[in-house]
Amino acid sequence: MHKSLFLCLSTVALYACVYAALPPPCDSEIFCTGPILHQVQTAKLFDDDKYFVDMKLRETPDVVLSAFRNLSNESPNNTVPPAKLQEFLSNYFEKPGTEFESWTPPDWHTEPKFLGGIADQQLRNWAAQIHNLWKSLGRKIRTGVKDHPELYSQIYTPHPVVVPGGRFRELYYWDSYWVINGLLLSEMTDTAHGMIQNFLYLVNRYGFIPNGGRIYYERRSQPPFLTLMVDSYYRATMDKEFLRGALPTLEQEYRFWMQNRSVAVTLNGAQHVLNRYHVQVGSPRPESYTDDLELAEGLTEDRKEQLWMELKAGAESGWDFTSRWYVDRDGQNNGTLGDTRTSQILPTDLNALLCLTEKTLASFHRILGDGDSAAQYDQAAARRLEAIESLLWDAERGAWFDFNLVTHSKHFEFYPSNLAPVWAQCYSGPQMGEKAVQYLKSSGALQFPNGVPTSLRESGQQWDYPNAWPPLQHMFIEGLSKLPSEDAKQLAFDLAQRWIKTNWLAYMKYEAMFEKYDVNGDGKPGGGGEYEVQLGFGWTNGVALQLLDQYGATLTSGGSRVLSGLLLPLVISATVMLQ
Ligand SMILES: *[C@@H]1O[C@H](CO)[C@@H](O)[C@H](O)[C@H]1NC(C)=O
Ligand SMILES: *[C@@H]1O[C@H](CO)[C@@H](O)[C@H](O)[C@H]1NC(C)=O
Ligand SMILES: *[C@@H]1O[C@H](CO)[C@@H](O)[C@H](O)[C@H]1NC(C)=O
Ligand SMILES: *[C@@H]1O[C@H](CO)[C@@H](O)[C@H](O)[C@H]1NC(C)=O
Repeated sequence: MHKSLFLCLSTVALYACVYAALPPPCDSEIFCTGPILHQVQTAKLFDDDKYFVDMKLRETPDVVLSAFRNLSNESPNNTVPPAKLQEFLSNYFEKPGTEFESWTPPDWHTEPKFLGGIADQQLRNWAAQIHNLWKSLGRKIRTGVKDHPELYSQIYTPHPVVVPGGRFRELYYWDSYWVINGLLLSEMTDTAHGMIQNFLYLVNRYGFIPNGGRIYYERRSQPPFLTLMVDSYYRATMDKEFLRGALPTLEQEYRFWMQNRSVAVTLNGAQHVLNRYHVQVGSPRPESYTDDLELAEGLTEDRKEQLWMELKAGAESGWDFTSRWYVDRDGQNNGTLGDTRTSQILPTDLNALLCLTEKTLASFHRILGDGDSAAQYDQAAARRLEAIESLLWDAERGAWFDFNLVTHSKHFEFYPSNLAPVWAQCYSGPQMGEKAVQYLKSSGALQFPNGVPTSLRESGQQWDYPNAWPPLQHMFIEGLSKLPSEDAKQLAFDLAQRWIKTNWLAYMKYEAMFEKYDVNGDGKPGGGGEYEVQLGFGWTNGVALQLLDQYGATLTSGGSRVLSGLLLPLVISATVMLQ
């Protein structure tokens, strides 16, 4: 066990933290630390740093390490030249992807019912093609991974999964929420069940859910959507026994977030507890090793470790990376990637999600007849609501904003997460939701043809302008659609139409679904960040299917058809009136 000595006197004294002997991302001396990782990654043998850490060993780690020591010993300065490194890799490693066997979900079938509710013929055909894509994204881990985990970076899970796609070859945590919602619409209940069982297995093994299914992700998590996955599954199946079996594990994950990712803040004499992303793990991320190394160049050792921790916390937030996590020297929400200080921020969306989690855990206990436990979670949700309204709600601006733990002030930039409490229905007065709609209208975020951007700042990072992301569109639209006013509901439909149009246009052009899109252009994939835009794509497909289900009667495939879609009901009612 690695010793972690991490002294923070209090949240106010975050600057006074001492970084010493932080644990590495995982204990593997090949995939997470050590000279092989360092030399292979810095030699830049592959376009993407994730390639090497996804390779499989042909020999045991001891043999591979010994062979590399021998090779280093005979190299000048112990630095193995690139050609020799290549040779070493082909002798001792297999290319990524060998740990999976092809697997077609047995519960896939043509013509799930929801397709029948999509009025536009072109959109209905397209939805059938998206439904078809589940077959190409299904993966089953070979039993070899279970029998010889030391040869793989892949984490074994007992059931097959639907993966995002592209470089994301393995399961991912928060992506799976939208994948599972899509699978349930596709009537692939067994596949959804297996994916949830995998997550329960991971909680039992690690005490929380790793970011994704690789050992280099095993010391950080991602936005905690497991309870909501179980909620979706329960609503689709009404399977109480499943709920009863899962609940203790859901509570274990909830305890992890409360024990390991919470902060007490005193404001105006009252103490509140809210959550943040926080990963006390050192070293560069193995899968983005050279990016992290280069970004930290010139810093002191302590500052390097601090930056690498904060980058991992950014990865844990799911928003990797974004100007949202920048905190510059003046404590302003400004700067560059090197100013990433994720753990200094109490995020609106994480706290809204945990509020909804608490309410959902209360409802599960009520369903199973345990009123006392239900009351405890209701109290936790009530305490969080009070904290959210004290620290994050801004009455003047009419929305919720991230809270900076160092300056004790809010960050007022626009992010879709500023409306996360609307999605979670975690606010106390009905007027707050409507105020948030007014805030939104004056924010400048609604002026783009293809959806709501991740911020209004073009930082070059992928979770910023001009990119729009499926999970954020979905939460945003769902939140607005739940508000009582017609105005908010119309806005929700409008945004659904914009999103479907851009997904559809890009599909027509590229015959592919992308992980993210540009808010401008005619069906343009997103860009920026550490890697090329990826195809597949799990959560994009899930969100498209959900919107096509929810608004299937009125959505159109775009262009002038949007107009005809809006005019058609008028024409019909005019015709009816004339008769
Ligand atoms: C490394 O060198 C030692 C000493 O020459 C030798 O015994 C060992 O087998 C070598 N390891 C490998 C993996 O070739
Ligand atoms: C070995 O390292 C020294 C000092 O870091 C450097 O000056 C020299 O160029 C290196 N030699 C080779 C062959 O890389
Ligand atoms: C969470 O924190 C507790 C107490 O500080 C620690 O013992 C435990 O190992 C942590 N759990 C995880 C999964 O990191
Ligand atoms: C934000 O930071 C950039 C450089 O990182 C600087 O040029 C700019 O003036 C800053 N803006 C504000 C409002 O501080």
